[in-house]
Amino acid sequence: MTLLADSSLIASTLIKRLAREELVDMVPYQSARRLFASGDNEQANSKTWLNANEAPGQGKYQLNSENINRYPDFQPQALLNAYSNYSGLPTGNILATRGADEGIELIIRSFCRAYQDSILICPPTYGMYAISAKNHGASIVSVPLVNTPEAMCQLDLDGLKAQVGKVKVVFLCSPGNPTGNTLPQEQIQAVIELFKDSAIVVVDEAYYEYTNLALTSGTDTEQVNTKFVCQCENVIVLRTLSKAFALAGLRCGFTLANKEIITLLSKVIAPYPIAAPVAEIASQALSNDLVVMRARVNSTNSLREQLNDWLKQQRWCKNIFPSDANFVLFRCNNIDEKNKIFDLLVENDILIRDQSKQQQLENCLRISIGSAEELEQLKKLLITL
Ligand SMILES: Cc1ncc(COP(=O)(O)O)c(C=O)c1O
Repeated sequence: MTLLADSSLIASTLIKRLAREELVDMVPYQSARRLFASGDNEQANSKTWLNANEAPGQGKYQLNSENINRYPDFQPQALLNAYSNYSGLPTGNILATRGADEGIELIIRSFCRAYQDSILICPPTYGMYAISAKNHGASIVSVPLVNTPEAMCQLDLDGLKAQVGKVKVVFLCSPGNPTGNTLPQEQIQAVIELFKDSAIVVVDEAYYEYTNLALTSGTDTEQVNTKFVCQCENVIVLRTLSKAFALAGLRCGFTLANKEIITLLSKVIAPYPIAAPVAEIASQALSNDLVVMRARVNSTNSLREQLNDWLKQQRWCKNIFPSDANFVLFRCNNIDEKNKIFDLLVENDILIRDQSKQQQLENCLRISIGSAEELEQLKKLLITL
């Protein structure tokens, strides 16, 4: 197992002189695959990857390579139709992207002028909002999540109100990564209302399918935040096939917004963002595999509850964050115990995510819900501590 050396160093004086100054010392997003080299396939398969919130198991897909000599459509119609059927939104409100990550980048590039405008984030939150902003030269305003007597990791509405007029894009993550909780609908609505004349509100729903909202809505046309997309001028919802659809390697996500926003983002996105094989596999997943996806989500959610119950009984576990997603975040009693757990797992080729450098998350670790076997392996090791 190789823990990668710092790959952010630039030694050449010429490149340092020519490069945008702020990029020279910038640390890139520490993705699961950058933190740990996956090596060749055999080496990668021998590890247990519980550090990137991927889903276990693979689907089976057919590929037709007949037209591979041609460029793909800018937005493949079959794919838009499939996501339209799934989300209940018209195709004109959907932009397919290379993962939700590309959606984040496009939004910042489309709405923020470099070195003038700011985005707002609510940490602890998904790291790519800040990385994409820095890459583009946008500033970052933080309004941290707060714990109330009723619930952990809620939006600070007073803090957000103080930023009205000062930021161009507000990123809300629901369910949050790495916190796991779904934000109350009233809070999201309040933020949309607060910024309705001054900023775009992005609701990142990468983990939507694991939530009660998704599991209890009778039809997919009842998906809650997507309805704001048509009703409000300033709302964008981000979705992905990387999580519940078990297609992280495909790189396919969706930006949902009103037609004007989609038109704007379409001016910034690359000319052929969705490779033909990606469109084919994604369309099949969205058309044929919804039953399989829902069964996967149900199984993940029940494994998550089992892991929660088990963690509660461990003396090194101080508290567990309530999760509506395919991972569990928990706090250890102290840094020594946190390091012991992490190191023991790494030594045994089980990779989880150390979140302790994030604001408010000292001594916290995050475990992605893999297969039942993978979680058993993890518990067997940790029980020895
Ligand atoms: C909250 C959140 N948004 C977006 C993404 C990026 O998803 P994608 O794989 O579609 O780029 C992730 C990935 O982990 C995430 O956790």
